[in-house]
Amino acid sequence: MTKLDHVAWPPAPIKTERLVLRGSEARDRAAFIELFASPEVGTYIGGARPREELERTSPAIPGRRPGLFVIELDGSLIGMITLDQRDAERPGHLRPDGGETELGYLILPQAWGRGYAVEACAAALDWFAEALPGEPVVLCTQTANERSMRVAAKLGFTEVERFEEYGAEQWFGVRHPPSR
Ligand SMILES: CC(C)(COP(=O)(O)OP(=O)(O)OC[C@H]1O[C@@H](n2cnc3c(N)ncnc32)[C@H](O)[C@@H]1OP(=O)(O)O)[C@@H](O)C(=O)NCCC(=O)NCCS
Repeated sequence: MTKLDHVAWPPAPIKTERLVLRGSEARDRAAFIELFASPEVGTYIGGARPREELERTSPAIPGRRPGLFVIELDGSLIGMITLDQRDAERPGHLRPDGGETELGYLILPQAWGRGYAVEACAAALDWFAEALPGEPVVLCTQTANERSMRVAAKLGFTEVERFEEYGAEQWFGVRHPPSR
């Protein structure tokens, strides 16, 4: 159960200057497998998953759930964005009872270094602010993940705390919605 369970999903595709954000479709399956099998993508998020296992276990439409946007460039998936409820058991919260919405982002390595992550996340955050007005969004990333730290800063996230988890220093930040 997440706050987005009460929001119509998927929304109409969201167009940015160069990208489209949309719900996942069956034609995205191979690119999802690329994403999760990529050692570069997995470096700071628990590692790549075996391709054979992904081929065998991925559903026909991977990632079809509220809050998961496919990032499309020229008709193909180049990454994904998630807006999920942060696990209450993990460290890093705004409130003792948890329940915060957390932003995540993964881009295929061949599309890194062109500003797509910030462009796509900014649009997803705008959509979220319309869907759930007044709700903050949190983000957690390893401090060693310099690319992700730069994305967080460019999107306007500010530090709440740092802590150790999975044997690494984690940065936990928040972005409050623009006041209306
Ligand atoms: C985190 C991740 C999405 C960042 O990707 P990225 O390509 O570095 O981020 P962006 O798409 O925003 O691109 C930013 C870079 O594009 C450059 N750029 C080039 N053209 C640009 C343009 N037209 N507009 C904006 N930036 C542009 C920027 O200068 C910036 O370069 P810099 O990092 O050297 O300063 C990517 O590294 C990734 O998927 N990592 C694996 C998954 C992961 O760890 N996710 C985080 C979990 S919380």
